[in-house]
Amino acid sequence: MYPVEHTSPRLLLREITIDDVDAVHAIYGNPEATEHLSFEPRTRDQVGQIIARSMTTATATPRDEYCLAVVERDTDHLIGYARLALDPHQPQAATMGLALHPAAWGVGYGTETVRAVCAVAFDTLDLHRVWAARAPLNTASHKTLLRAGMTEEGRIRQHVHVRGTWRDSITYSTLDVEWEAGQQKVVP
Ligand SMILES: CC(C)(COP(=O)(O)OP(=O)(O)OC[C@H]1O[C@@H](n2cnc3c(N)ncnc32)[C@H](O)[C@@H]1OP(=O)(O)O)[C@@H](O)C(=O)NCCC(=O)NCCS
Repeated sequence: MYPVEHTSPRLLLREITIDDVDAVHAIYGNPEATEHLSFEPRTRDQVGQIIARSMTTATATPRDEYCLAVVERDTDHLIGYARLALDPHQPQAATMGLALHPAAWGVGYGTETVRAVCAVAFDTLDLHRVWAARAPLNTASHKTLLRAGMTEEGRIRQHVHVRGTWRDSITYSTLDVEWEAGQQKVVP
């Protein structure tokens, strides 16, 4: 499906474009924003290549990757980058990830982004299951995924190789029935 667009109270998810390279590099090139991610800070050229590839896959048939700009509606600024990638071997399942610029942290945009990506996954793409993985030390991600209604599932041992070593991941998921029934748990 192309193009994908989703509006939430304060945010807009839209297709990424080549004009977004600097704003995405401000996140993907930022050591603080990438501290717990599965890659080291990217150069501007690397971000340009990622976005160019994302734009190509966006119009592929079938489409298996959705790389979306997270835009603050009040300012029209790109404050984050979200990705939903269909699992190659599991029908109607996808992995989601997100990263926001540190200047946008702490006001609920992370939670709103996770829920917006789930809305795209379940309401627009009719998926069955969405899952996410975080680094064990990524407390902000843990709280955000729970706050957004996902359920913690477990640990994948030595899931990613980053910064010269193997790192475990902690996984979370939401199912379509939970989304539709509005049964996501909200952590007090
Ligand atoms: C993880 C991330 C998306 C959270 O975004 P955010 O907009 O700050 O999150 P929210 O404001 O929606 O906060 C959600 C919860 O996380 C908590 N939280 C946010 N940052 C935190 C931090 N650094 N330490 C501890 N808790 C934190 C909030 O207090 C809130 O918890 P609560 O519901 O108990 O009050 C953001 O920090 C980020 O982009 N980090 C870098 C990339 C990344 O780690 N992505 C996730 C990969 S799975």
